[in-house]
Amino acid sequence: MDRIAVIGLGKAGLPIASVIADSGISVTGVDIDEERCRMINEGKNPIPEETGLGELVVKHGGKNLVAVPDYNEAKNCNVFIIIVPLFIDEYNQPDFRILLDATVKVGKILKKGDVVVLETTVPPMTTETLIREALEKESKLKPGEYYLANSPERIMTGYSISRLREFPKIIGGIDKESGKKAFEIYRKFVPNLQLVSSARLAEFVKVIEGCYRDVNVALANELLKIAEEIDVDIYEAIRTANHEYCHIHLPSTGVGGHCIPVYPWFLIKEMEKRKKFDKAKLLRTARELNDEMLEYWVDKIIKECTKLNKPLKDIKICVKGITFREGVKELYHSRNLEIVRRLMSKGLNVFVQDQMFTKEEIEQMGLKWYNGDEDIVFDPFNLNITAR
Ligand SMILES: NC(=O)c1ccc[n+]([C@@H]2O[C@H](COP(=O)([O-])OP(=O)(O)OC[C@H]3O[C@@H](n4cnc5c(N)ncnc54)[C@H](O)[C@@H]3O)[C@@H](O)[C@H]2O)c1
Repeated sequence: MDRIAVIGLGKAGLPIASVIADSGISVTGVDIDEERCRMINEGKNPIPEETGLGELVVKHGGKNLVAVPDYNEAKNCNVFIIIVPLFIDEYNQPDFRILLDATVKVGKILKKGDVVVLETTVPPMTTETLIREALEKESKLKPGEYYLANSPERIMTGYSISRLREFPKIIGGIDKESGKKAFEIYRKFVPNLQLVSSARLAEFVKVIEGCYRDVNVALANELLKIAEEIDVDIYEAIRTANHEYCHIHLPSTGVGGHCIPVYPWFLIKEMEKRKKFDKAKLLRTARELNDEMLEYWVDKIIKECTKLNKPLKDIKICVKGITFREGVKELYHSRNLEIVRRLMSKGLNVFVQDQMFTKEEIEQMGLKWYNGDEDIVFDPFNLNITAR
């Protein structure tokens, strides 16, 4: 019987650990956050906005799913699923420190015949190079003595449990045996699983999904500006244009979160490293266009303000929604929050309304809580500006 360790019990790791536990397999969750481990073992869900997760944590926390801060307590596991974050630095280069730390610690407890699966989204080739080298250096195991695969996590926070149970998941090994072995294990708890030809392909699939979304949003944002010039309702236009072969996304304030604005850089930077600058032109342009939407919306809001014929500092503005996506309590690379900050830096009197946060949390961020009598309301999720 397999014993599975899930390394990292965050927004992506805890849902998969809980789903595995729910399938009857015993799971040891390793997370450096001791408070999080304590909560999980007491059956308390640290991610309340995740639908269906609460029930699973109550049912399995401290029982079939035991959370520990110490890797040594996962020594008796034979499968290690790594799902810790990977960020990009200020130069848009991937910062592997967290991932390497987790991999080295897994390497120290890895035994002959064990299986390691990387779920963190990474630049293609990371599993077969960086991860493999770190594991082999620490464990002293040789290729063929253990198995290594990549199965990119494809969840969406808020819908992770249903995504894990219904959405197609892919898995690919650094060699044929690794792919087969990892597939056999994952099949026990992932109903819709596809074995692909390699770990590199699995990594690439996850990254290009993000690229598609980023380029598509950039297109919608560009079309928004053109529609405005020729006085056409962009929403009606997109609704009408979309069909089976045309799926234009909606315009926005840009693209936020840990994923979509990050993944295109994995490919852009790899092409730069190879001095193949002309091979990732569209990806770079899309990134720039999406980030430029901040200026577009700030200019537009200020234009609305000037219509009110009051000094800018006397106009109260409410921004509705500061998270990077509706319904998710997450501010990483939030474009709406950045708009709030830019408006504040221009001397505007900005208030914030967001159902995901309490008044205290908003104020702790140095922002003002919405008090209901603003002159201008900007709703970034619906992209409308209303002025009184
Ligand atoms: N959240 C999503 O919607 C989403 C979607 C797609 C992909 N992902 C992927 O999942 C990965 C993880 O993201 P997340 O959203 O779960 O992050 P998160 O910040 O919610 O959680 C990360 C967890 O890892 C723990 N951790 C950090 N360093 C560790 C270490 N050395 N050893 C053990 N635990 C450690 C942290 O304490 C934290 O609990 C991302 O890099 C991304 O590839 C997430």
